[in-house]
Amino acid sequence: MRILVVGGGGREHALVWKIAQSPLVEKIYCAPGNAGIAQLAECLPIKPTDLTALAEFAEANAIDLTVVGPEAPLTAGIVDFFEGRGMRIVGPSASCARIEGSKIFAKRLMKTYGIPTADFWECDSLEEGVTHLNAYYAAHSHTTPIVIKADGLAAGKGVTVAQNREEALAALHTMMGEKVFGDAGSRVVIEECLFGEEASIIAITDGYDLVPLAPTQDHKRIGEGDTGPNTGGMGAYSPVPAVSEAVAEEAIEQILRPAIRAIADLGIPYRGFLYAGIMITEEGVKTIEFNCRLGDPETQVILPLLASDIVPLLLGATDCTLAQAPVEWHEYAATTVVAASGGYPGSFETGKEIKGLDKVVNSRECVVFHAATTLQDGKTVTSGGRVLCVTGIGSTVMDSVANAYIGLSNLEFEGMYYRKDIATRALRHLSLD
Ligand code: AMP
Ligand code: GLY
Repeated sequence: MRILVVGGGGREHALVWKIAQSPLVEKIYCAPGNAGIAQLAECLPIKPTDLTALAEFAEANAIDLTVVGPEAPLTAGIVDFFEGRGMRIVGPSASCARIEGSKIFAKRLMKTYGIPTADFWECDSLEEGVTHLNAYYAAHSHTTPIVIKADGLAAGKGVTVAQNREEALAALHTMMGEKVFGDAGSRVVIEECLFGEEASIIAITDGYDLVPLAPTQDHKRIGEGDTGPNTGGMGAYSPVPAVSEAVAEEAIEQILRPAIRAIADLGIPYRGFLYAGIMITEEGVKTIEFNCRLGDPETQVILPLLASDIVPLLLGATDCTLAQAPVEWHEYAATTVVAASGGYPGSFETGKEIKGLDKVVNSRECVVFHAATTLQDGKTVTSGGRVLCVTGIGSTVMDSVANAYIGLSNLEFEGMYYRKDIATRALRHLSLD
């Protein structure tokens, strides 16, 4: 088979790495890919949102299956576009991808179908938002946290967990008054704040059956101890002690399966990866958000743990044969640590040479996934905020953490920053058990 992977980050490197292990695959292309992906696939200078160029390439090169990593092409309708031309592609249609593309769509779906989530209010104008906040704070203490979310895609930055009334009003003014997220902030959701541990529960589905992937926990904040601004994710690990079998089952049966059924009910089955960001609260598991894709960096720990071939799963999601695809998991743990450019998630410099990549030989203990790298005059240089994801694998979470940091200790580039506390929450949990 000839496979095209769309995207060029750490998630796509992990996808290409796993697909390359399949005996069913003869050639992999990746658009646009990166310096790490280029060792396994032919990289194409095509943007993930250039749907016409991607489809023309796939047609001209007899691509059997296209796999999409990021949300932007999915919400832009890449699946509808490819299927309209009779080509096989894994992912939700644009209509289904609204589950990530519009917070309001996702919240209404959850409310209608009784999927557990935080209480919320939709606001179409700044005045409406201020009225809601005033009403909320008339009934609650001034220092009750509340969450303000831009309705549309805002590169992971459209959510403010405000600690009090002032912060909430300020966030509302930034989104709806100053429009810092453009149209994404023309409608907002104001949402009750949930408390507990977060986890990422992802499944692949053909619209009817689903296969749950290994639960993971992401570290979204830039700073150690979960401080500072939100990022795309600074590290992740699996298994997650906070996600017991009962919690995982609750998330599948109360959130993912009902969401897939609800969307099928709207007339268009959801196909591809569906990601539920959950909060494990004292009242049970609640949905924080849905994403219409695999997580990044969650994928960089999930795929090294998947023992079976990923290609039958991907094919199964496109033609309703998911139930027949074999699924086996390694009994290992995996942890990925993200090495980022200094300054990220704010401004940062690129073009820094990455040294030491030749010292980390991919093995059963450690794999380096490139997230934002490019080749320049024969050297591998940084090209974005999250640069590398170093995944350690071990028989316990602790071993996997050690292997990730050993791998990372060989690598350097000017301004390299990484969190030194990835998975410590798991280690704390385990020491209390
Ligand atoms: P989202 O983009 O919706 O995943 O939100 C980004 C982050 O904001 C989440 O990972 C949570 O840490 C936090 N968050 C979002 N919604 C809530 C909520 N209702 N209660 C508490 N934290 C939240
Ligand atoms: N790591 C969070 C996400 O992929 O949305």
